[in-house]
Amino acid sequence: MKLTIDQIRQAAQEAYQEVLPLTGGVNAHYIPFLANIDPNLFGLSITLVDGTKINLGDTKYKFGIESVSKVHTAILILKQYGAEKVLKMIGADATGLPFNSIFAILLEKDHPSTPLVNAGAISACSMVIPTGDSNAKWAEIVQNITDLCGSAPELLEELYESESATNFNNRAISWLLKNYNRIYDDPMMSLDLYTRQCSLGITAEQLSATAATIANGGTNPLTGKAVFEPSLAPKITSLIAAVGFYQTTGDWMYTSGIPAKSGVGGGVMGVMPGLFGISAFAPPLDDAGNSVKGQAVIKAFMQKLGIGIFQSQDVTIVS
Ligand code: DON
Repeated sequence: MKLTIDQIRQAAQEAYQEVLPLTGGVNAHYIPFLANIDPNLFGLSITLVDGTKINLGDTKYKFGIESVSKVHTAILILKQYGAEKVLKMIGADATGLPFNSIFAILLEKDHPSTPLVNAGAISACSMVIPTGDSNAKWAEIVQNITDLCGSAPELLEELYESESATNFNNRAISWLLKNYNRIYDDPMMSLDLYTRQCSLGITAEQLSATAATIANGGTNPLTGKAVFEPSLAPKITSLIAAVGFYQTTGDWMYTSGIPAKSGVGGGVMGVMPGLFGISAFAPPLDDAGNSVKGQAVIKAFMQKLGIGIFQSQDVTIVS
């Protein structure tokens, strides 16, 4: 099957227009800063592996990256430790439970399941080398996100303060992980790094560049920089496919055909290996904490193209 860039652009425009009037969902209300973001913001961004960009709507608005940052830091520890150690120290499994589940840790106390839920993401922050040095760890986290996006993120101070003042559940998770020897650095320092990375402001354009870097086997198509080894790309895509939408991931994969990761800031980032990265941004969320319009627009786009990860090996893009 051959797809032209014009066909991709047209599918994106149609999907965007169709989903624009969609209502439903509410902004994340457990983080005060996010509750007050304009719920009508809506952006769709696609970056092809050749570097072609398709942007519609609010793709330059800086929103809270939140849980999408779990993917970036998973990549960082995969780079630092290798795929096998990450599997042993954290895991690569779905929990089937909400992103902030304490029950999931109690059930699987031998590992925190995956770096893409809160427990595993805090554990991942604890692993970032050099351990013991919060500033140096933070510099690594931000540099890695910058390399993946092709441009730097910016800390949203107000979001960071809002989240730090209300993250009691995550504090409990951090100490519980310490109890099970699954925190590999100071627990509160690891939590602070996690909270800070969630509070980074990012644009839909930057997230589609990250997704395109994963789709392109680790080389950022915008900067040409080799950010990670090609062998890690299928590892990170499999993590996303297994748990990107938490307890609704199976339904998402079944209906959309694309591995994607969400954040409570309203961002969704999807990876089509070898083809493109896609991201959508719209703040109102469903009950599982995933952007309502973000999911709808990516699904509509995929359906219009008539492709999915389980058939993408037959697809080539021509100009
Ligand atoms: O830890 C939290 O609760 C937030 N900083 C991030 C949660 C999140 O984005 C879940 N994803 N949909």
